[in-house]
Amino acid sequence: MSGFDPAWLDLREPADHAARSAEVLAAVASDFAGSEEVVVADLGCGSGSTLRAVAPHLGPRQRWRLIDHDPALLAHARARLSAWADAATDDGGVLRLVREGQEIAVETFALDLSTDPLPEAARSADLVTASALFDLVGEDWLRGFVDALAAARRPLYAALSYDGATRFTPAHPSDLAVVAAFNRHQQTDKGFGPGLGPAAAETLTRLLQAQGRQTVAAASPWRLGWAETELTSELVAGMARAVAERPDAPAGLDGWLAFRTEFAGVRAEVGHLDLYARPPR
Ligand SMILES: C[S@@+](CC[C@H](N)C(=O)[O-])C[C@H]1O[C@@H](n2cnc3c(N)ncnc32)[C@H](O)[C@@H]1O
Repeated sequence: MSGFDPAWLDLREPADHAARSAEVLAAVASDFAGSEEVVVADLGCGSGSTLRAVAPHLGPRQRWRLIDHDPALLAHARARLSAWADAATDDGGVLRLVREGQEIAVETFALDLSTDPLPEAARSADLVTASALFDLVGEDWLRGFVDALAAARRPLYAALSYDGATRFTPAHPSDLAVVAAFNRHQQTDKGFGPGLGPAAAETLTRLLQAQGRQTVAAASPWRLGWAETELTSELVAGMARAVAERPDAPAGLDGWLAFRTEFAGVRAEVGHLDLYARPPR
């Protein structure tokens, strides 16, 4: 689980889509109801999962600007979106999709958000979205991002920020220690300064509310059962790899991994928060 491996993003997409808060998504949709055309910028777009989750809730014509620093992921996103659409035309510039009567034009931008948190392509969009991104960033970066968002007076829909609460059933005696070490690993620098990790959603909410914004927030946990065994196995293996890198890795990590991998029927809940912030008044 590198986090940005296309295979990992594809594997997690159904769980991500099932986890998204319907309440928060409905608030986004209601603010754009009746708009003939909506321009959306998705930060850290990966393989385009946010577009596939959100586009069905927006209007008949949409323009999406997908932003990521990884050109290989952007190419993967174009291929995944072309396969998802009923019809697609890709001349290498604007990717034109038609799906269930909606016309969706997609542009991809290879940009490093660590140095420019809100590029022009996002500053001029009607809606800024990001999923599973903010738990990678540091507090200084987040402050700069939120300030840029306010200056541009843009709404933000931030989904699936990991909140640190990972629970397994059945329990293992090392669960708490492993999850705590994994959460500390989440706070290492991922290219945006010392990472906020599980504190990101709360910090983002606080910063946006300090601007006087109205926010709608709700939990969006992964609830992984029998049908998600492959995802749970990858999650567990990725957690063990991350924890093993730490000098404070708890003893018994191998035993924990063996138990979690070999025990058929493991279930997991992984906490996230979804947030929608309307533009500052
Ligand atoms: C956990 S993935 C989430 C992908 C996608 N939003 C989703 O929900 O499936 C984080 C994404 O952030 C992107 N990313 C990480 N650092 C970045 C940076 N400095 N600039 C732009 N994108 C970055 C990664 O390439 C990856 O696509």
